[in-house]
Amino acid sequence: MLIHKKTRPILSSLSLPSPIKKYFSPDKWDIDLSSNTNPHLGHFAEYPDVQHTQLKEIYLDRILSINPPASFKKDNSSGLSPDNLLFTVGSMEGLDLLLRTFAEPNTDVICIGHPTFPAYEHWALIHTLKVKKIPLLGEDLNTLSIEDIVKINPKMVFLCNPNNPTGTKLDPKLIETLCESLDGFVVVDEAYIEFSDISSSIFNLNKYSNLIVLRTFSKAWGLAGVRCGVIISDKSVIHALRHVQLPFGFSSFSQAKVRERLFDTEETFLSWKRIEKNRDELIATLLTLKEVIKIFKSHTNFIMLVLKDFRKVMGLLKKHKILVLDCSSSIPNSIRVSLGNEKQNMKFLEVMREASGSLKEDPRPMLI
Ligand SMILES: Cc1ncc(COP(=O)(O)O)c(C=O)c1O
Repeated sequence: MLIHKKTRPILSSLSLPSPIKKYFSPDKWDIDLSSNTNPHLGHFAEYPDVQHTQLKEIYLDRILSINPPASFKKDNSSGLSPDNLLFTVGSMEGLDLLLRTFAEPNTDVICIGHPTFPAYEHWALIHTLKVKKIPLLGEDLNTLSIEDIVKINPKMVFLCNPNNPTGTKLDPKLIETLCESLDGFVVVDEAYIEFSDISSSIFNLNKYSNLIVLRTFSKAWGLAGVRCGVIISDKSVIHALRHVQLPFGFSSFSQAKVRERLFDTEETFLSWKRIEKNRDELIATLLTLKEVIKIFKSHTNFIMLVLKDFRKVMGLLKKHKILVLDCSSSIPNSIRVSLGNEKQNMKFLEVMREASGSLKEDPRPMLI
């Protein structure tokens, strides 16, 4: 397969890294004496699989069954196959890998929604790329100016759906219009999508060759310690990424843990329902408290609150040794709070009650 035409120029002269070439060769062998490993010490003595065909098939089966659009047929009208997927060391590696493969240092421009997950800007700056922040607009921050992005003509746009730290979701038409309007890539980070009712952008991959979806096992799948992310895109994008990815990052141990989780999904799916219920109950109670000015409509396992007296609440949380994320540099007086277990949520609520004193006399609907 020819290398993708949007890759960095250096890639046109490079082939796959030598340790992984054999895995993609059409030749077959019974005895592999090419890796200098120790044959006497069992399964983990071998390098991990790099194709993960069966694991990718199971993962696809699981994610295609979550909130499919009405037009989606059970016979997999998405057209996705294992060749459209690449496992990474968390989705953090995924976004770094995309930049290293496609964005030319000191030349290309990257657009990111704002406010959003700070890692997009961080890694883009490390790659000496120019970063343009495009403000999220609307009462519930569900859109942004496509015109502004088109004028910039970026190599990549990073959008997070649902968004971190606001927890809000994007207008689905926005992503499609961006894909149609741009020559560059539209990267949709769906790290939290399993907690939402959003129909994933994976269902549009057959329409747009410049669309890239990032997923992770760190959030809803409960495997942050295992370090596994997934890039889902056109086959030519995945093929290019293989030339740049450090070989063997997805260890045999991690592969076994991911496989286990994908085969037995009952507990995982129940935990998503439990988090959703806890989130809605916590929001309902927080809305009655004087210290809470606003709560963004969350489609994730965290909530963003705007506080009346930021310093007082942060001081009390610190006194009770509860850590939340200070987001006041993006949205004044705001914090992001992850849903913990029931006991932890209760403790947080107690501190918020202590900070607020009495209830609001007339709780206004402030959920936006
Ligand atoms: C939006 C978003 N993307 C990606 C990540 C990183 O995930 P991973 O653990 O897979 O690297 C996070 C983690 O907080 C996140 O919030």
